[in-house]
Amino acid sequence: MSFERAAAFAPINIALSKYWGKRDHERNLPLAPSVSVTLAELGTLSVVAPSEELEGNMMVINDKAADAKALVRVGRVMRTVREMAGTEVRAGIRSVNTVPTAQGLASSASAFAALAKAATTAYGLELDDQELSKIARLGSGSATRSVHGGFVLWRRGEEDDGSDSLAEQLASAEDWPLRAVIAHIGVGPKKVPSGDGMRLSADTSPFFSAWIDTCFTDVAECLAAIAARDFERLADVTESNCLAMHATMLATRPGLIYWQPATVAVMHAVRALRAAGHAAFFTIDAGPSVVVLCEAGEVETVSRTLGGIEGVVKLTRTRIGGGAHIVPNG
Ligand code: DP6
Repeated sequence: MSFERAAAFAPINIALSKYWGKRDHERNLPLAPSVSVTLAELGTLSVVAPSEELEGNMMVINDKAADAKALVRVGRVMRTVREMAGTEVRAGIRSVNTVPTAQGLASSASAFAALAKAATTAYGLELDDQELSKIARLGSGSATRSVHGGFVLWRRGEEDDGSDSLAEQLASAEDWPLRAVIAHIGVGPKKVPSGDGMRLSADTSPFFSAWIDTCFTDVAECLAAIAARDFERLADVTESNCLAMHATMLATRPGLIYWQPATVAVMHAVRALRAAGHAAFFTIDAGPSVVVLCEAGEVETVSRTLGGIEGVVKLTRTRIGGGAHIVPNG
């Protein structure tokens, strides 16, 4: 079998009903299902070049050698790809993010979805997107969802080997073309990585089991809202799921406080907009920045409102987009 260099781009995604809790930390198997939207433009380009001359995988992230933690995750993905391709050949890997790493904007999601797409292509594997999502999952749980565009469900799965814990598309970006305005807040990397935070919440947060129960009902509610294209219903469930996750984080010991004052100000501003009849709602991952989803006609109003809030350092306007794809000559 001959191997060829391949480049792939994958976008970030933002969960509407979130993933915060694992039943298996090696395979990134979740305790509950989750639902997300994939955002256009922001993401990661990953280039994988297999070479007989390499003794181990070489990895560069944003022009710096990958650290040990990243190499462990990359190793899990690459080992699986090599086993499936039946080869020992290692690869040089280069990854470039268009989102700041480790700021709670899901850069690991786009990074591992892009890596899975580029690596499987470079090693000559032809997989459908559901199979691909399982390989992306080995790098980072949320990467499972970034393989697909549009509205995405990541099934919890029941099997211990993770064979049924995969993502599928619920609706495409064209089916329901919502927009997103990202309010970037705060600087510097977050202190507690998601995986460690999840473990800590599971071990110490008194709300943890209620949170996991909530995810099952919230996912069902998201599916119904998306199927009916019911904006209000999606707004309500998304905000309350986000707040329930942060309540669980806050009650963790020691408390995981990802918010900054501007985070709270943005939440109030978005609530006030919706009360005044504007179709917009917020959600927040494990970081201070806020993603506001809205209807196309509301982008100007939302941007103007968020732009006037102290502590919002930058706004990015984007839309719901497509999933991971090969970049010819990338
Ligand atoms: C708060 O996917 O980054 O963004 O599986 O350990 O890599 P690992 O965690 P990660 O966690 C994402 C958590 C979240 C919620 C979500 O995206 O669903």
